[in-house]
Amino acid sequence: MLSIEEMKTYLKNNLMESRYIHTLGVVDTAIRLAKINEVDEKKAEIAALAHDIAKNKTIYELKDILDKNNIKLTYDEEKNQELWHSMVGPILAKEVFKIEDEEILSAMRWHTTGKENMSKLDKVIYMADMIEPNRKFPGVDILRRECFKDLDNGILQGLNHTIEYLLNKGIPIDINSIKARNYLLLHK
Ligand SMILES: [Fe+2]
Ligand SMILES: [Fe+2]
Repeated sequence: MLSIEEMKTYLKNNLMESRYIHTLGVVDTAIRLAKINEVDEKKAEIAALAHDIAKNKTIYELKDILDKNNIKLTYDEEKNQELWHSMVGPILAKEVFKIEDEEILSAMRWHTTGKENMSKLDKVIYMADMIEPNRKFPGVDILRRECFKDLDNGILQGLNHTIEYLLNKGIPIDINSIKARNYLLLHK
């Protein structure tokens, strides 16, 4: 696996500056969330650093990588191009950063939608992506406080926020976000 510094150099050269700054915010938040939730801080750091590795690829490049790796998209996934960078992320992380840890790759894969029965590391990365210091949306401060008090409750609020936003905008809601929310509600 590449060193943290080598990964940072790659990201600096391959992401827009604003995306790189966001990534460093996710790293910082993920480490803090990991610390208070008994999650491996090193894994949180690496997953956070790598989570948007594919973000600057065009949709054509992303589709090409998915095709070459025989990843068949469902109709819904095909339509939701916003998801593609999280599907390609683990592939690039393996190829470029030589990351093999399945927990890290899973946290990267599900950082956009969440999923049913997330691991603690999945949760840390999902939430760190949403509440890192550069994120600005109404209610983000309350969400930050909630996450540092109780991660599961924070995720539930975060999913509610995302689902409400998509509802109001008339955008389809990924089935995995619904499953993530139902699971949290049913397994409290
Ligand atoms: Fe992302
Ligand atoms: Fe992100």
